[in-house]
Amino acid sequence: MNVGVGSEGETLAPIRARVLSTPRLSLQPLQASDMSRYCAWFGDAELMEHAGARLGTEAARRAFRASLAMMNQPVPRAWLWVATERATGEDVGLMGLVTKSDVPEIGSIIVTPQQGKGFAYEALACIRDEGFRRLGMSVQSGCQLPTNLRSIGLMDKLGFKQVPGRPDRIHWHLDRASWMADLGPDVG
Ligand SMILES: CC(C)(COP(=O)(O)OP(=O)(O)OC[C@H]1O[C@@H](n2cnc3c(N)ncnc32)[C@H](O)[C@@H]1OP(=O)(O)O)[C@@H](O)C(=O)NCCC(=O)NCCS
Repeated sequence: MNVGVGSEGETLAPIRARVLSTPRLSLQPLQASDMSRYCAWFGDAELMEHAGARLGTEAARRAFRASLAMMNQPVPRAWLWVATERATGEDVGLMGLVTKSDVPEIGSIIVTPQQGKGFAYEALACIRDEGFRRLGMSVQSGCQLPTNLRSIGLMDKLGFKQVPGRPDRIHWHLDRASWMADLGPDVG
């Protein structure tokens, strides 16, 4: 199996993010030309209110470069996409999987005018499936502040289950077997 990341000592292979699409969204792997939108999103205090502190310009640039490096290293440790609306070309947000403590963590930022339209679910369901199906992940995780009620609802809808962890965070887990069992044979 092509294995991108696993928590059980699998051999890792260099499988990078590829272009994806959903009924309403085009998902393009994050690239160098995305720096200004990335910095704008991570610098937006309202958008980042429940997702961690907003980043100043230099910190956002460092985070952007670190993300690209994780995506492009010989064995990738991040798979990130910029989503745009297929019908209009408008920006929708940034989403993907980033390896933390050896387990890929799923997450998204949807720009404020595009929230509440089902875009995070549409994009992350596609990315969750890409992670298990093509990137060969054995498990995916999630982590939120307890105040992030929208994100908690989203993770629940994506089929993740809450697990114990830091008391000041909500931790989520979805393994390959549960993904296949709960989400139907057509996803495997
Ligand atoms: C959390 C976030 C990604 C959700 O994006 P979205 O595109 O608005 O979410 P969707 O429209 O796809 O909704 C999916 C589910 O999320 C939950 N949700 C979304 N908006 C919600 C709201 N205002 N109140 C409660 N739950 C909400 C619901 O469970 C919803 O499913 P439903 O519509 O069937 O009820 C978005 O609000 C965001 O980017 N927030 C700022 C950044 C952030 O906090 N990211 C997560 C960091 S861990």
